[in-house]
Amino acid sequence: ATTRLADYRPYPFQIPNIELDVVVEEQHIAISSSMQIEPALTTKVPLVLQGLNLELDSIVINGSSVPTDAYSLSSSELVLHQPPIHPFELKIICRIDPFNNTSLEGLYASESMLTSQCEAEGFRRICFHPDRPDVLSRYRVRIEADRTRYPVLLSNGNLVSKGPLAKDPMRHEAIWDDPYPKPAYLFALVAGALQEVQAHFKTTSGRSVLLRLHVENGDEPYTSHALDSLKKAMTWDEKVYGLEYDLDEYNIVAVRHFNMGAMENKSLNIFNSKLVLADSECATDGELERIESVVAHEYFHNWTGNRITCRDWFQLSLKEGLTVFRDQSFTADLHSKAVKRIEDVSMLRNTQFREDSGPTSHPVKPSEYKAIDNFYTTTIYEKGAELIRMLHTLLGQQRFMAGMALYVQRFDGTAATTEDFIHSIAEGACANGEQLGFDLDQFQRWYHQSGTPQVCVKRHWDSQGGTLTLEVSQFTPPTPGQPSKAPLVIPMALAVIGPNGRIGEEKLVVLDQDTQSVSLRDLPRQAKPPALSIFRRFSAPITLQMDVSVDESLQLLALDDDPVARWEAGQRLWRKILLARARKQADKPLEERLALALNQLITSGGESDPSFLAMLFGMPGLAELEAAQDVADPLMLYQVYQSLKSWLGVKLSDPLQNLLERSRLNWGAQWPAGQGERMLTGLTWSWLAAAGDCEVRKEAVEAVNGPSMSLARAALRALQPVECNERDEALKSFYERWQDRPVILDTWFALEASTPRSDGLEQIKQLLDHPRFDPMAPNAIRAVLGGLASNPPVFHAIDGSGYNFMADQLIAIDQRNPITASRMVKVFSRWQTYAPSRKEAMHRAIDQLASAELSANTREVVTLMQPEH
Ligand code: ARG
Ligand code: ZN
Repeated sequence: ATTRLADYRPYPFQIPNIELDVVVEEQHIAISSSMQIEPALTTKVPLVLQGLNLELDSIVINGSSVPTDAYSLSSSELVLHQPPIHPFELKIICRIDPFNNTSLEGLYASESMLTSQCEAEGFRRICFHPDRPDVLSRYRVRIEADRTRYPVLLSNGNLVSKGPLAKDPMRHEAIWDDPYPKPAYLFALVAGALQEVQAHFKTTSGRSVLLRLHVENGDEPYTSHALDSLKKAMTWDEKVYGLEYDLDEYNIVAVRHFNMGAMENKSLNIFNSKLVLADSECATDGELERIESVVAHEYFHNWTGNRITCRDWFQLSLKEGLTVFRDQSFTADLHSKAVKRIEDVSMLRNTQFREDSGPTSHPVKPSEYKAIDNFYTTTIYEKGAELIRMLHTLLGQQRFMAGMALYVQRFDGTAATTEDFIHSIAEGACANGEQLGFDLDQFQRWYHQSGTPQVCVKRHWDSQGGTLTLEVSQFTPPTPGQPSKAPLVIPMALAVIGPNGRIGEEKLVVLDQDTQSVSLRDLPRQAKPPALSIFRRFSAPITLQMDVSVDESLQLLALDDDPVARWEAGQRLWRKILLARARKQADKPLEERLALALNQLITSGGESDPSFLAMLFGMPGLAELEAAQDVADPLMLYQVYQSLKSWLGVKLSDPLQNLLERSRLNWGAQWPAGQGERMLTGLTWSWLAAAGDCEVRKEAVEAVNGPSMSLARAALRALQPVECNERDEALKSFYERWQDRPVILDTWFALEASTPRSDGLEQIKQLLDHPRFDPMAPNAIRAVLGGLASNPPVFHAIDGSGYNFMADQLIAIDQRNPITASRMVKVFSRWQTYAPSRKEAMHRAIDQLASAELSANTREVVTLMQPEH
């Protein structure tokens, strides 16, 4: 069935209070829910409740049992035909079986615990309920369970009481009460044998908050990073947004079996354990930063998501785009603004732009869906965050924050829409009588129009008048269901760069026409136009089409004062070089010039931030290069990366050795210190190893057994493409060292699966049969099958064996876990961009999937990928 935004109607009942009674037995859980229901309409309408895999026991209204002919029950719905017209109490008793729930939605078992995941529509797997985000209730929850098996009993809000049962001292109960009305998707429950680590936080207004992190026995030593991150997030949200935490405790539980990253349930966040357990010996610098940002993301949801939630799931980006924007700003403030922005831009290009140019392209605010779980995408999250960032760019920090304050004040305690948000921002930003400066309705097209806009810039230089005129046009290519597009509001930040750096001030131009002309006046009257720094800070999520000479790019790479534009100048050269090699027309002169520029960057010592230097040395991702090819050729690109690295490794061998020597001095610095040097070390190793440097290979093998996970992983990555004994030795010692730590072993699975070998597919089959492979853990599945998908020679083998194998595996996984399967199935989404033989082979795999029995989730994605669609 298709759900449409246009069909939204308010729910005809309110449910101000819910009491849940959860009795955990050996083989099942008995759930009794008491809902206080208030009809919102005077007209009589049936009461429709959702329910999936629930065994119904009894229905009682105001104390009397409801006869069977007064309701109907299907596999997904319970309908009470004639509910009372006055407020009433509805009590329903049912049973669920969390012990055989492999979907990881609703309540399920993971290792020694029972845990829950309700977003988006998991609550209906726990009890009968409308299960839609605009129904907000106060929850009171009693959990009863065996004391030894489930010593820890958690739910949302405040603990009212906890203690043994009088009638059975082997069992105990806990009662939780959440004073804040919330939608069902924020409900959470955890029961199990967990270890707890505590910390404390005092809010500005004096509330003391107990921070409790719950982990499996033995994982306690790896909790301090997540707890520190939480405190930093709490401090930052108070300081920057003026938002404080609103309860006396905050719980985080780490769970091994989890479909996504983490979940912001009110005061009881549940996390994929890989996003909690870490220290510098067992996690890389990147992972430490990622954990810090996800802990912050879930915390920031307490206001943007929980206190103000979404009216319906079409508004998903209201909370996700905004919260990603907030977590990005947090990381930028704590670390390097420049590096964070570059990482985010690069990720957007290689994931969101790819999604937006393929069969699953959809707007930030979709108008329909079949399975909402398919819409937890990089478009909703990261493109959604870019839209917020553009508002911030257009209005400036102060006015944006005035809008945020108004939004919070006006919609606290409600289920809102993206329009509510946009209008609050605009109104707050103009509270002092200022003009908005752009058309708000036109800006909102960003929410409804899918696809990545292309901005084309043609330049005319008037050397006599010193005027640079830009003819700017915008065009968004058609996407599924949207053949023609209207112009968008695009903020374009510009500056002019002369031989000594920036000339004059930066200028923010608002594009809003198909074609328009922009003039930059009073520039130095010289024969050649000055270099143009454009879309500084990546001021809009677009692709730029502009002729830029190599000279201009090199000048910007050396002198641009905006680090993003400076990095972009380098990226343009990298792209040109790699794509030329892929056409077998290597641009030798350009390669020599870039090598010279890189050499200067290393030897001048002018670049003081090693992380930023590492960004400049980073080559563009495979996805963006594929997008730039007429016919995508992942195998060729894979070889081209290696050949270029190897050439640079030889060409720059001396300066690289020098860089390596300098970097070694900071190897031991504790994160975040030293991360730039460790990144540069990884780059150096990978170029030198590709060039056949044996000393470097030895050093890399040693690092795998050393004290820094960042260096160990950098070493493994450097060795991976090179067929040598050191590679196998390194992988083997990594396994031996970490075999008892599932979170880290997933990395080994991923590395093994993505290592190009002639018998690669055979190796991958063995990994799936490996005694330490857990087929129920999405992390493990993603490690091996994701590893396969990023192993071009094996996945893209021309006989189609990689594709067939992947399809078979996904069909099997879909039976157990539709959410994980439907996400992974997108590895086939680019099939139409490949050359005929590869295209056909991939198409056969899609057909294979299409003819299997699939979940609604996976079916929706597969159907979109089929050509007849
Ligand atoms: N709201 C969570 C977050 O972004 C994601 C949960 C998505 N879960 C799902 N089954 N679709 O923090
Ligand atoms: Zn989120």
